[in-house]
Amino acid sequence: MEIFHKPIMLKEITDALTLKPSDIFVDCTLGGAGHSVEIIKHIPNGRLIGIDKDEEALKFAGVQLKNFSNVTLVKSDFKNFESVLDNLNIEKVDGFLLDLGVSSHQIDTAERGFSFRFDGPLDMRMDKNQELTAFDVVNTYSKQDLIKILKIYGEEQFANLIVNNIVKHRQTALIKTTKELNFIIEQCLPKRIVYKSGGAGKKTFQALRIEVNQELAGLEKSLNKMIGRLNLGGRIFVMSFHSLEDRIVKTVFKFNASGCICPPGTPVCICGHKPKLKLINRKPITASQEEQTTNPRSTSAKLRIAEKI
Ligand SMILES: C[S@@+](CC[C@H](N)C(=O)[O-])C[C@H]1O[C@@H](n2cnc3c(N)ncnc32)[C@H](O)[C@@H]1O
Repeated sequence: MEIFHKPIMLKEITDALTLKPSDIFVDCTLGGAGHSVEIIKHIPNGRLIGIDKDEEALKFAGVQLKNFSNVTLVKSDFKNFESVLDNLNIEKVDGFLLDLGVSSHQIDTAERGFSFRFDGPLDMRMDKNQELTAFDVVNTYSKQDLIKILKIYGEEQFANLIVNNIVKHRQTALIKTTKELNFIIEQCLPKRIVYKSGGAGKKTFQALRIEVNQELAGLEKSLNKMIGRLNLGGRIFVMSFHSLEDRIVKTVFKFNASGCICPPGTPVCICGHKPKLKLINRKPITASQEEQTTNPRSTSAKLRIAEKI
């Protein structure tokens, strides 16, 4: 059977579930349903709602979940989860999972254009109906915007060098494929970086993917809204793979877990802020050494769990 995506920290997540048999759980990043096939076993009389914006993921997940009748799969961006719930007449749920970023299937399918390791069109869209592609970003964004994207989303220290070379190349011919772009990146970087494990294009490709799919935009707002639609005792699980992403999750969780947020030194509380969450783990949970060895994609994963109070 095809390995679509190996679910990361599956045991850590299922061990922390507090679901009752008739609860409702929303997997906001369904992927290959690696987590969902286990989660659904905890809610035999409840309902699992699986959201993904990638049709290939929904198709694969549908097969994995075919023996369960209490599943609803929806093609959508999880930023629109409220309308998904509203359409199903569901006001509150008992759990959310966000396993952010891309699936192994997306990365490993050359035609999707996510990886510098394979030759494919510069695409990188999770949702194939979306207009913006990596080709547009690489060939039409201004030099300043590209530098900003590589620095912020890719934490790429050679952003200036890489973007200068991209701009030089695109003046003569459009950059169409992942291999062309990777060559342009390798051409301008010090040889020691090019030969370093992980590959020279890794950070640039990550940055472009985040921009194409607007992965960070609206995450904070979505998390706040999800907390609002959790039943008491319901849990939200967020797994991130990028420090910016994890910082957003940490900040939202911390804010919602705080009581008074008056400026320090305020003699009497005037904000009236009440905690809505209890943090299940103060520090992010990381994959075990064994998982990191067997599944290198788990090495950068950080899992935060919080409970509605
Ligand atoms: C890391 S994979 C999830 C893997 C899944 N947990 C499993 O074990 O099979 C992330 C999935 O979320 C989807 N995705 C990422 N951002 C999304 C968003 N904003 N809205 C909907 N789906 C999203 C991607 O298309 C991808 O299929």
